[in-house]
Parts: sequence; structure tokens; C-alpha cells
Amino acid sequence: MRKFSQKHLLGIKEISTQDIELVFETADNFKSIINRPIKKVPSLRDVTIANIFFENSTRTRISFELAQKRLSADIINFSASSSSVSKGETLIDTVKNILAMKVDMVVMRHPAPGACQFLSRHIPASIVNAGDGTHEHPTQALLDAYSIRERLGSVKGKKIVIVGDITHSRVALSNIFCLQKLGAEVMVCGPSTLIPRHIESLGVKVETNLMKALEWCDVANMLRIQLERQDMKYFPSLREYSMLYGLDKERLDRLNKEIVVMHPGPINRGVEITSDVADSKHSIILDQVENGVAVRMAVMFLLAGQQA
Ligand code: CP
Repeated sequence: MRKFSQKHLLGIKEISTQDIELVFETADNFKSIINRPIKKVPSLRDVTIANIFFENSTRTRISFELAQKRLSADIINFSASSSSVSKGETLIDTVKNILAMKVDMVVMRHPAPGACQFLSRHIPASIVNAGDGTHEHPTQALLDAYSIRERLGSVKGKKIVIVGDITHSRVALSNIFCLQKLGAEVMVCGPSTLIPRHIESLGVKVETNLMKALEWCDVANMLRIQLERQDMKYFPSLREYSMLYGLDKERLDRLNKEIVVMHPGPINRGVEITSDVADSKHSIILDQVENGVAVRMAVMFLLAGQQA
């Protein structure tokens, strides 16, 4: 019997390789359960979880909610746009009011980097970071690495390039930490304006030529251009970005090997990836979405103090 070493999942930076492997082993069990005719288990029957989303989400929100339902948890869904936050209530007051209703765990997405960390110092419940601004998106990185492990057998020793808007991407940072902890080599690729200065200090390679990056890698994780977080023009136009950094079939065909293609979603078809690649046999985009449920079940199960 092994236990998760953390009370919260705030970021991948804080957790150990053993914790990540424990999440994967636990997710393996849940994945087999959710593919059975009876998909529900009573594991979190007495646990109440609040999903607090201050930012838009499709995949993460639905995935957490489905994972909670599969675990038989009681759920409260809270969306900032339809709440008293718009009347000036602070984050701490909002969450304390929710916790007064005896909530055990909070899954939170917030536009401010560090918001989950901040909250964890003020409330007693376990917190799962569902994406905090440009900081981390730990469950996305876990499901990404889990999907690579599923497709290629292991993450260790694999070469993974993360392509696109590295500067504004919480997915990139969490993936870098997670993949490195699991023994992968990581490269980032994109226009130099979208790659943070000194990112090499994290131990990643940097490449601005997409074809060279694709020739190097086993897996390409194509990121969305985060226009909503960009406060200035980082490249002349989406058309130009797509010409230089978009993954299309012609580029894949020029490689003399097969690579795995990933995308965290939502996809801007025709910008970072074309439909013929997104929907091809190289793509594991929908496997990532499917695995997200099992991985999130594992995370919440372990944070609730359950043993694998
Ligand atoms: N991958 C991801 O976080 O997608 P959503 O923003 O739709 O949750």
C-alpha cells in the first residue's frame, strides 16, 4: 500500500517521481473500471468536491466532473461569471463560504498564477490546480505523460518537443517538469518571441526551426496560441505563424519516421495543426481526453487519502 505524499496538487514541480508513478498505476485501475459496463465505484462516496472555475474550460471541467461522478463523490459546480465574485467578493471569502458548507476538496481554475498556492495557505481542504494562469496545469501534464506511456510503452528516454506559445502556456511548464521527472528529453520549439529567455536553465533544448525539431523528436505536443493572454503582437499574423510552426501532413510526410502527435486542446484547426494531422493515426488527442478522466480519478482518489 502506498500513499500520495502531498495534501494538494498545486503543480508538478512540487511532486515526486514516485507520486507521478503512483498516479499512473492508480489510473491504470480506474481506466479498466471506466471501460466496464458499470463504470461507477463508491471510492469517494462520503467526499464533497467543489469545482471552482474562474476561467473558461471545456475538457478539464467536464473531465473532473465525470471523474468525480465515477468515484461517487458529491459535487458542487461554481462558475465565477454567475457568482457573487462579480459583486466584489474576494477569492478567500468565496472559497471560505463554500467550505462552510462542509466541502472536502476544491478543484480550481483561476487566471492568476499562484492562486491555488495562495488559497492552500488559507483553507483546510485539499486543492487541485485545474490551471492557474500561465503557471501550471498539473493534471494536463499527468494525462499527457500517461498517454505517451500508453502509446510508446514508457516515457523514459523518449524525445518530446513542445511546439508553440511556450511563454503563455501552463501546459508547457507542467509538461517540462513531468516529462523530465519521468526521464524524457524535452525540447521547446517556436518563434523566439514566444520562448521565455533562460528557459534552458530548466534543462530543455531550444529550437526555432520546426522541421529540425520534428526530425529530433518521438512526440510533438502542439500548443494553442494563447491570444487571450498575449498583451502585444508576438508574430505578424496567424497565417505567418501557421506557415512556420503549423503541423501539416506535408511536414509529417517529409520525416523518414513516424512520430506521435499530441494537443492539449482546444485546437485551432489550421493554425497550430491541420485537420488531416489532428484526425490522423499519428494523433493521440482523443486518447489524451479519454485518459484525463482516469488520471483525474486517480489524483482525487489519492488526495482523499485513499491508498492505491
Ligand atoms: N486542455 C484544457 O485545459 O482544455 P480546457 O481549457 O477546455 O479545459
